[in-house]
Amino acid sequence: MEKIVDTQELAIGMYVKLRSEWIQGTGLAKEFFITDPGQLRQIRNLSLRFGKVFIDPDKKWIPSPIDTMTHPDDLQPVPSANDTSQAPSSSQLRQNLQQAAANTTLSPMEKATAVYDSARSLMQALFASPTAEFIQDSKSAIGSLVDMVLEDDDTANALLKVTSHDFYTYTHSVNVGTLSICLAKKLFRKETGHDMRELGAGFFLHDLGKIRVPLEILNKPGRLDEHEMRRMRIHPFQSFKILQETSQLSEECRIIAMQHHERDDGTGYPLRLRGEEIHVYGRICCIADVYDALTAKRSYKEAMTPFQALSIMRNEMLHHFHKEIFQDFVMLFSKQEKK
Ligand SMILES: [Fe+2]
Repeated sequence: MEKIVDTQELAIGMYVKLRSEWIQGTGLAKEFFITDPGQLRQIRNLSLRFGKVFIDPDKKWIPSPIDTMTHPDDLQPVPSANDTSQAPSSSQLRQNLQQAAANTTLSPMEKATAVYDSARSLMQALFASPTAEFIQDSKSAIGSLVDMVLEDDDTANALLKVTSHDFYTYTHSVNVGTLSICLAKKLFRKETGHDMRELGAGFFLHDLGKIRVPLEILNKPGRLDEHEMRRMRIHPFQSFKILQETSQLSEECRIIAMQHHERDDGTGYPLRLRGEEIHVYGRICCIADVYDALTAKRSYKEAMTPFQALSIMRNEMLHHFHKEIFQDFVMLFSKQEKK
């Protein structure tokens, strides 16, 4: 299958197909996976002359583990300490969330709380047991949450208020998923062509690869040493890998998993992309991710208030973000103040 895309939508990892007149004298092949920022720039420059480009969204690129600074040990799954034998099934957790999202008798705040709590339970169970079935049920449940956010402004705003801030990865995933989908709704309200349900799944599952990072590293108070940092920095690749292995990968999920730690000034990881090399989906998730990290309580730091976090992001970290997307993110909260 082929799909025409605007070159601004192109990203590392996509499989492009170029017409003969594009590649004359360029040294580029007719079709290939985009694997580095130089190729991305070259194709964008060519598109100034030739227009839109074809991609094949069915072809999946798996980056070499070496590219992502990994170590063979890092590829071993880390067994979960949680006993899941008594846990509710994935379909039960999916139904709980879907029922909460469809409940018309609750106030927006009650509904938001019920949906948020269901989403946390679902993600907690998913992180303990990321099977294909669980991921499938999670995607379906997240789809219902996304539909609710798109259709119901009051509950969407309430959802932003009920986020909690412990140090668990599954809580972080729900927060980042919620924030990102609200930001995407704001950014894409006049655009078509974004599959918001797939996007929602990508935002919620972006950190799934952390199950392959040892807990003592994930929860270490204070700075990580160089080896620990290397292991931590493979989690975008591992998220991608898990979604790939369980055949639950879409274009949107792949971009989000791989790019949520890239930074606009090129200081992020794993590929040190910069500026326009980072897809808008990756940029959205990056902003939500940083915000949630700042407002979360950790054993070694107090939680910041939303105002403190947004101030630090604007005054000290703005070079990490796309400025206009960040402005839209700030607006999500100013809207809340007026309510
Ligand atoms: Fe992450």
